[in-house]
Amino acid sequence: TAGAVTAAGRTAPVPVAHRGASAYAPENTLAAVDAARELGVEWVENDVQRTRDGELVVLHDDGLARTTDVEEVFPDRAPWKVADFTAAEIARLDAGSWFAPQYAGEPVPTLRQFLRRVEDNGQRLLLEIKKPELYPGIEADVLRQLREEGWLDRRHVRNRLIIQSFGAGSVRAVHEQAPAVRTGFLGTPAAADLPDYARFADQINPPHTTLSAEYVRRVHALKGPHGKPLEVFTWTVNDAETARRVAAAGVDGIISNKPDVVRDATAAP
Ligand code: G3P
Ligand code: CA
Repeated sequence: TAGAVTAAGRTAPVPVAHRGASAYAPENTLAAVDAARELGVEWVENDVQRTRDGELVVLHDDGLARTTDVEEVFPDRAPWKVADFTAAEIARLDAGSWFAPQYAGEPVPTLRQFLRRVEDNGQRLLLEIKKPELYPGIEADVLRQLREEGWLDRRHVRNRLIIQSFGAGSVRAVHEQAPAVRTGFLGTPAAADLPDYARFADQINPPHTTLSAEYVRRVHALKGPHGKPLEVFTWTVNDAETARRVAAAGVDGIISNKPDVVRDATAAP
């Protein structure tokens, strides 16, 4: 993944809008990816989960209460888990009002709606399979829908899609079921274990709090399943100082609620 070249002659990290540009619009909504586009940010990071009736939806928490009005609409359905609701029920929810009144009525997108918007916006997607242990087989469901929507077409698959997860088994399943897809493991494996991850992950994506230049160097020294050096996308960096620190450590991407701040702090002058 190539970013801008800095004064020092290095490639600046790619800014990635975390849950969309989630400092400026409600996370994991179409409005949040539109906000990223308005900032000129190409890459968006979003989370996918599965409803009771097998539909894929874009949402971070495994419960609906924090980011929707589910408690008002379905007061007797505690604890309001995504997996206990149908897609039709989730479609009735407001996922924007909690953030700001101007976003009232913004829905929880289905993955299909979401992919179409990201494509229409000309953006690229870092898609996180969230809590795969709650949704057995979700990898095949996600890949099927990506395939149906053209995201696995040869001309697109390498340049506009990465699938990541905290679940190593989930990342491995994606790699085995769709070997052309680039993948990322979320976490900070011990250096000695990195070669095992390099068999199925193209990226190792640690939180910025665990990141060092030495660790990035060790990750970069390995080649991933597509024969290229492993990349590092770190998260969640929302201030200029931390952005400069992780850029100096050599990361390839920075996942941020404020991707404009990160880009401005790390771009070529
Ligand atoms: O992309 C990394 C980051 O999204 C992982 O944490 O909790 O925001 O999904 P979380
Ligand atoms: Ca995420």
